[in-house]
Amino acid sequence: VSSFLLVPLATARLRLEPIREHHADALYDGIRDPSLYTYETDEPPRTLRALRSRYAHLEPGRSPNEDQHWLNWVPIVRENERAIGFVQATVADDLTYASIGYAIVPEFQRRGYGAEAVGAMSDHLLANGVSVLHAVIDVRNTASIALAERLGFERTATRRSDDVIGGVRGIDHDYVRRAGGARRNAESSPS
Ligand SMILES: CC(C)(COP(=O)(O)OP(=O)(O)OC[C@H]1O[C@@H](n2cnc3c(N)ncnc32)[C@H](O)[C@@H]1OP(=O)(O)O)[C@@H](O)C(=O)NCCC(=O)NCCS
Repeated sequence: VSSFLLVPLATARLRLEPIREHHADALYDGIRDPSLYTYETDEPPRTLRALRSRYAHLEPGRSPNEDQHWLNWVPIVRENERAIGFVQATVADDLTYASIGYAIVPEFQRRGYGAEAVGAMSDHLLANGVSVLHAVIDVRNTASIALAERLGFERTATRRSDDVIGGVRGIDHDYVRRAGGARRNAESSPS
């Protein structure tokens, strides 16, 4: 691991492991669910081999040309060791800016795991010098909007999407959270 920001994290119920190739085996079935890609330009992985290769490329935590941190963590439920999705951040080298993303596989949704995992990543990045976190969320994505607002992200703009998904250019909200910003629950801590 060559990004100093890519360290193991922990919350009350979860361990967040820096992504490794082997996580593909546990996540493959769940992460292929089409419902995870309704508002994403990404597509479900076509094969386990492709997912393993993708995760292997993400292991170092750096972009291929080394000018950004590419951080991905896999949240694991401590109680039963199940891998439940991923949280990710693309961070500028000067730490002025991070763009975040996340997905929780359907079987594990609506139990607070998404907020717990994204909250842990957000707290970690802001505590380690990142100035601003930015999430781009489709206006129809009520689950993601609720998650971001619960974690103290503030809506700063609503605009035509940069992306065309299924032939349609949607409308996105921009959400940001800054270092020192408010947050409703603060149960996470670095492990
Ligand atoms: C967004 C996502 C990660 C939420 O994960 P989750 O583990 O179900 O979220 P949580 O259980 O922590 O819920 C967080 C908040 O969202 C709300 N929520 C969750 N799913 C919801 C849904 N389907 N509809 C409405 N609200 C929902 C919860 O009630 C909670 O709000 P509250 O704090 O006001 O009670 C998950 O739905 C997902 O993976 N979606 C597909 C991928 C995606 O859209 N990623 C984000 C792209 S911007």
